[in-house]
Amino acid sequence: MSCNVAPARGMIQCIPTFLLIPRRVATAGATGCRRGTGKRHSDPGAPVPACGNSFHYASSGFRHEVMTDSSPIVLISGSRKGIGRALAEHYLARNWMVVGCSRGAASIAHDNYAHYEVDITDETRVIAFLRDALREHGTPYALLNNAGIAAMNALTLTPGKTAWGVMSTNILGTFYLIRETAKGMIRQRGGRIVNFTSIARPLALEGEAVYAASKAAVESLTQSAAREFGSHGITVNAVGPCPVRTDLLNGVSEKALGSLQKRQTIQRLAEFSDIANVTDFFLRPESSMITGQTLYLGGAYA
Ligand SMILES: NC(=O)c1ccc[n+]([C@@H]2O[C@H](COP(=O)([O-])OP(=O)(O)OC[C@H]3O[C@@H](n4cnc5c(N)ncnc54)[C@H](OP(=O)(O)O)[C@@H]3O)[C@@H](O)[C@H]2O)c1
Repeated sequence: MSCNVAPARGMIQCIPTFLLIPRRVATAGATGCRRGTGKRHSDPGAPVPACGNSFHYASSGFRHEVMTDSSPIVLISGSRKGIGRALAEHYLARNWMVVGCSRGAASIAHDNYAHYEVDITDETRVIAFLRDALREHGTPYALLNNAGIAAMNALTLTPGKTAWGVMSTNILGTFYLIRETAKGMIRQRGGRIVNFTSIARPLALEGEAVYAASKAAVESLTQSAAREFGSHGITVNAVGPCPVRTDLLNGVSEKALGSLQKRQTIQRLAEFSDIANVTDFFLRPESSMITGQTLYLGGAYA
């Protein structure tokens, strides 16, 4: 079985209306996967989507219509909990279609949400997941490369296995998802990719050497991908949150959190809405001239 899908309760099969990508009806079992699908619905009482149900974006001198009669699709890695889940709920509230993934089962039950159980460090499974998800739902307008793990250890006490896990999740997982999603975005001639870094990188935080190094690689990947995809109308940017209360901070003491905040210009924890504000900005059609950038929260810089 190349990938597992835990469909959220209440989901029904649907085929997204998508203008540019030829659509095929996926048949269960065609790739040995169970699929979760999200039904599009137009709820007259639903909030107006941030980018509208009908939107365009300009890129490289041409104006290209991405979709007209369906909600934008956003793919969010690590959507089971933490920031990824909050972002999934944020875009669902705007009537977007959200395709999420994580190693665990879905934690969101919503008609417009489809969840795939996939470990992003497993290249074969990521390829199967994207092939399956793109066929089922269409090429996403945006990819939020949120899934990541941290290791809060003194460098001399960090086991190689821990470092390998951080590197493979944060760097390779991000790379696999960019590569497989960008293929569809290139055919679609446009898209938005937002990668996740951290203020641990510019602040070169002690006790987070491996994590900060992995995020430095994510930022480098962001810039190179931005250059490679620029002519295809795809922007690639990164957001670097300051600490926000999620399980990622479980091993961090309140004292350490307090001293970290003292190194920020704006000395408070981030809220999920602070991060969504940045992803909204990068995803806006009007942000088509912004690429290869990293935006840190809290006024953190080297
Ligand atoms: N929280 C902060 O203070 C903070 C600050 C700066 C940057 N960040 C960055 O923000 C991102 C999200 O962090 P978070 O705080 O929300 O962490 P979190 O609460 O620990 O959630 C991490 C998410 O990633 C998924 N995930 C982890 N490894 C995975 C893998 N190999 N394959 C697929 N999914 C995987 C997890 O789900 P499963 O367990 O089901 O796989 C979970 O949904 C990370 O990139 C992190 O580096 C966080």
